[in-house]
Formats: sequence, C-alpha cells, structure tokens
Amino acid sequence: MTLTLDAPRIVRTRALLQVSNVSKSYGPVQALRNVSAHAYPGEVLGIVGESGSGKSTLLRMMNLEETPDQGSYTLDLPDVQGNLFDLDRFARRMLCATRIGIVYQNPHLGLLMKHSSSGNVAERLLVAGERSFATLRAKATEALEASEFPLDRLDAPPIELSGGMQQRVQLAKAIALEPALLLLDEPTTGLDVSVQALVLDTLKRLQQDRKITMVIVSHDLGVIRTLADRVMVMRRGEVVETGLADQIFQDPQHAYTQQLVHAKL
Ligand SMILES: Nc1ncnc2c1ncn2[C@@H]1O[C@H](COP(=O)(O)OP(=O)(O)O)[C@@H](O)[C@H]1O
Ligand SMILES: [Mg+2]
Repeated sequence: MTLTLDAPRIVRTRALLQVSNVSKSYGPVQALRNVSAHAYPGEVLGIVGESGSGKSTLLRMMNLEETPDQGSYTLDLPDVQGNLFDLDRFARRMLCATRIGIVYQNPHLGLLMKHSSSGNVAERLLVAGERSFATLRAKATEALEASEFPLDRLDAPPIELSGGMQQRVQLAKAIALEPALLLLDEPTTGLDVSVQALVLDTLKRLQQDRKITMVIVSHDLGVIRTLADRVMVMRRGEVVETGLADQIFQDPQHAYTQQLVHAKL
C-alpha cells in the first residue's frame, strides 16, 4: 500500500485556492487536461514541469487572465464566492487588483518599462482605489524596500535596470496591496545564477515574514526545491504527481518525476 501524504501540517485547514478539473485547448493543442490544484493558507505550492507542460496557462487562470473550456476556481476569502471563472471582466479585474499579485517571467508583461519604478508600484495602488499622493509614495517605497530594491533608484524606469532589479519592481508591485495570493511565473528564469539566488532569498524571506500563500511555477527543480512546501509535477498538460516537497525530492513515485529529480542531482 502506498501512503499518500498530500495534506501538509495544516491538515484540517480549508484550502485558500482550489482549482478543479480545468481543461483548455488552443486549437489542436490541449494545454491543460483535467488539472486540479490547491494551496493552503500560508503555503508555497511549486509547479514544475518541462517547457510546454501547461504551467503558465494554469497560472494565468489563477490570475483570471484566461478562462478554461471547463473547470472551476474558488478562493476562500471574505466577500469572494462561487466559481471565479463566472465573474465578468470588471469583477475579475477588481479581484486581481486587490487580492492577487503576480510576477511574470517577462517584466514587459508586468511593468510599464518607461515609467519610474515607484510609479509602477503606485499605479497598482491607484487601480485599487488609493488616492493620496503621500500614501501612494509611502506604500510604494515600503513595498520596494521589502523587495530589497535599492531606494536610491526609486525614480529609475525599469528599462534602465538589470533583470534582477526589474523582477524586484514586479515583486514590489505584486505585494504592495498585501495580496492573499502571490503568483510567480518563472520569476528567476533568465537571470544570472548569482542574481537568481539573491531574488530567491528575497522571496523566501518575504514568505517567512508575511506568510503569503504563493504559487510558483518553474521548469527549474532547484527553484522549486528552494521555496515550495508542496510540489505538483506537470507534463503535457496533465498532473503527473503531487506531494510534499521533501517527499517528491527524496522519494519520487512517477517515472517522469524520478527522471527530473535524478537529472538534477
Ligand atoms: N495563447 C496561446 N495560444 C496558443 N497556444 C498556447 C497559448 N498559450 C499556451 N499555448 C500552448 O499551450 C501549451 C502549454 O503552454 P504553457 O502553459 O506556456 O506551458 P509552460 O508554461 O509549461 O511552458 C504549449 O503547447 C503552448 O504552445
Ligand atoms: Mg511558462
């Protein structure tokens, strides 16, 4: 008999995020096939899989940028009810603006590259309804500081910054409103290894300090290993295996996971 250890320490807590049985096709390509995922409050869910396995599509759904052909999505938050895929564009936008933060692999997707770094963060607060200039500036600075962004570069536009600093601006923008859920799509992919380690340190510290529920997607098992409490392995649009991080890394059950883990060792 196989012992399944899917529920973490917080066994009886309700999941904050629950995606159930989502499928999505783009023409002939089935990007997701009957995928379910959940994350408990304060937990880091890591989603790993090779390129094209459907990770970004799933994360875009969690950010309500994409609607599946079938399936449902709930967030266990005050004033948030029902299947979120049923919300109209305005309600989706407000929910994302106030409760969900996202960091994309490509900073061009998350930032206005020619606006100041603090302006990028402030814009997020404006969308959520903040109207005092002093508060905007103070909150933006605080979020940038928490993201370990150098405060002498507040006025620098992202286009003039290094890749690592651009990711810190995205991160500041994502956490400025203290979201209930932080989504990270390959946040360190493409960065130099040393810069990657620094950004991962910041993410880990933020998670420990603020206990934000996170979903992090990466093709890099090392990144997932550094951050995730629980891991979901995807391949060709399907979930191959899911379990606690140490369980997945020490005792992978599925041949594909074994291959991934051993290739990394
Ligand atoms: N907007 C889109 N239009 C067409 N095909 C897409 C689109 N988004 C993703 N796909 C396809 O869906 C599959 C999964 O893509 P993606 O979710 O980006 O995978 P991953 O992030 O794991 O690399 C790929 O075959 C990709 O080409
Ligand atoms: Mg991707």
